[in-house]
Amino acid sequence: MTYQIKNYLLSMQSNWPINHALYDAVQESIPAIAKYRANEGREDLHKTPIDKMCKRVFPDIYTVPLFRRQWCKMMVEEIKLMEDHVAFKPNEDEDELRQIPEDEDELRQIPEIVLRDHCPELYSRMWFVVQTVLNPIFLSLYQRDCFDISSVQIANYNPKDKQKGAWHHDESADISVVVPLNTGGYVGGGTEFHNHGTLKPLPSGHALIFPSFTNLHRGLAVESGDRYLLVFWLHNKSRNKHIYEEIE
Ligand SMILES: [Fe+2]
Repeated sequence: MTYQIKNYLLSMQSNWPINHALYDAVQESIPAIAKYRANEGREDLHKTPIDKMCKRVFPDIYTVPLFRRQWCKMMVEEIKLMEDHVAFKPNEDEDELRQIPEDEDELRQIPEIVLRDHCPELYSRMWFVVQTVLNPIFLSLYQRDCFDISSVQIANYNPKDKQKGAWHHDESADISVVVPLNTGGYVGGGTEFHNHGTLKPLPSGHALIFPSFTNLHRGLAVESGDRYLLVFWLHNKSRNKHIYEEIE
């Protein structure tokens, strides 16, 4: 079942959803990133304007203002329409990818809408954001590409369906990006990183960026309301291809 976006502004090919200052910083950083890539890492990538926009909250874990608040508001209105057509349910692809046994702790199963399956228009908009905004951020923060999409989904933590998550790694990703869409519209929530500490819900549209392999984490309990999150699981196909070729 696919859902067609009602609000034209959400399906439009444009950079307007991106935080203005961040968008400018990305454009200003591209020459340094391009030079770094052309040198194949033989010279360091010095601090870029993107770095100034990113806040380090724990080692290797950053926050950055990614989407405009107005876009987040429109998204939440659209999600509420979407819910009449597509139910939030645990991501089955994820189970397949990770080969989760049926009896696994059900707290891992967060109700989600997978955009590739249920909202292709939004998926293609988010693909564009990954290529043009998130990947330059990853190059600045981690000096690596990560622009292939394992999944982009909308997650919903709420007291009725799934209040909180269990400790886990995002195993189908190299880098995870989590963006709250309606901070202030619910009570509780936030993210805890094992051995690091807890983060209160970020302002709507601010992205939490972290390497997925090394950061055990869990979603904290929502006491009332719905906490909507836009979640990106990203990987690097060329890296995996290289691994598979070695195995063969
Ligand atoms: Fe996660």
